[in-house]
Amino acid sequence: MKLFEVYSLYDINLTHAKGCYVYDACGQEYLDLYCGHGVISVGHTHPYYVNKLTEQLNRIGFYSNAVINGCQRDFAIKLGEITGYKDYALFLSNSGAEANENAIKLASFSNKRKKVLSFNGAFHGRTAAAVMATDNPTIVAPANQSSHFTKISLNDITSLKRELRTEEYCAVIMEGIQGVNGVRFPSAEFAKEVQDSCAETGTVFIMDEIQSGCGRTGRYFAHQHWNIRPDIITMAKGIGNGFPLAATAISPMFTPVIGQLGTTFGGNHLACVAGSAVIDIMLREHLMDNAKTTGEYLLEELGKLPYISEVRGKGLMIGIDFTLPASKVRNALITKEHVLTGISGQNTLRLLPPLCLSMEDADLFIHKLAHCLSKIH
Ligand SMILES: Cc1ncc(COP(=O)(O)O)c(C=O)c1O
Repeated sequence: MKLFEVYSLYDINLTHAKGCYVYDACGQEYLDLYCGHGVISVGHTHPYYVNKLTEQLNRIGFYSNAVINGCQRDFAIKLGEITGYKDYALFLSNSGAEANENAIKLASFSNKRKKVLSFNGAFHGRTAAAVMATDNPTIVAPANQSSHFTKISLNDITSLKRELRTEEYCAVIMEGIQGVNGVRFPSAEFAKEVQDSCAETGTVFIMDEIQSGCGRTGRYFAHQHWNIRPDIITMAKGIGNGFPLAATAISPMFTPVIGQLGTTFGGNHLACVAGSAVIDIMLREHLMDNAKTTGEYLLEELGKLPYISEVRGKGLMIGIDFTLPASKVRNALITKEHVLTGISGQNTLRLLPPLCLSMEDADLFIHKLAHCLSKIH
């Protein structure tokens, strides 16, 4: 078979990786500030992570959710502790879209309502409900189209209240920080208003922490900077450090119904060991503190470079607006400076480096970006 070509590819064939660096088949080293869409949290091929997965694979890699799985229980305890949500229950799946799909289903099962409110610029995944909550009509197939999904502007309290007052919405789904849209924040006031309006109208508040969670912003969840406590929180990307693992954390107000949610692969032994290893490493190596300090340093230094109109971010989730097309900067960074970054829209470069990024690597990036910009025209 040939591959179904839905991706536009860079001409790079990565064969190995270590920490914040990846290497291609010719041995060329790249500084990885994007981590394959923000997935590598504790660094590539971390020896503790590799050992834990290898040991588990030699014991048992997979069995379905028909039996007790101790690895799941261990992971749930660790996740409850590191997140501060010990009283929430955990449903495990394999991808961010699935975590959101299950969150929306659960909300709708619980209050029997059909509508979902999300925000302009949102990205929640590509499956049936998740894609409808996403603000990108080009990825919605006719079969997914539904009139149950409404979008309003982030931080628009008047529209939020107007919609929720109808009591037709099963859920509001909001990203901790919008990632695909170029690192855009809800205000703390707005986040609190979503929480309060949801509580007043019997609407479930779903917080999508798939990109902004797992310690990336210096707190475990971005929404913890806004001092709120949503009803359901979704996670994926960094929690498995590359092993497919997604989680839906569910408040005690929901009662589980046998058979209502389910998956074959979700929460398998290997995935849970990957998740537990990530938490162990984050705690031992103080990676949330590192994300905070290295991120603050980057934000300050990046603002001093030319062609940059704005730098936004928290911890190691950073959006840089350029006065030039971001694709031009990104291409030059890859081909000339051997640095991997991401883009959002026309003018924004997005950084989602591993949480173990050192000050030396942050300086190296600033130096390489400055050099790249000095040659750009
Ligand atoms: C905020 C957010 N939600 C959901 C998703 C979907 O995750 P996945 O691609 O694992 O389905 C993404 C992916 O980029 C995301 O950034």
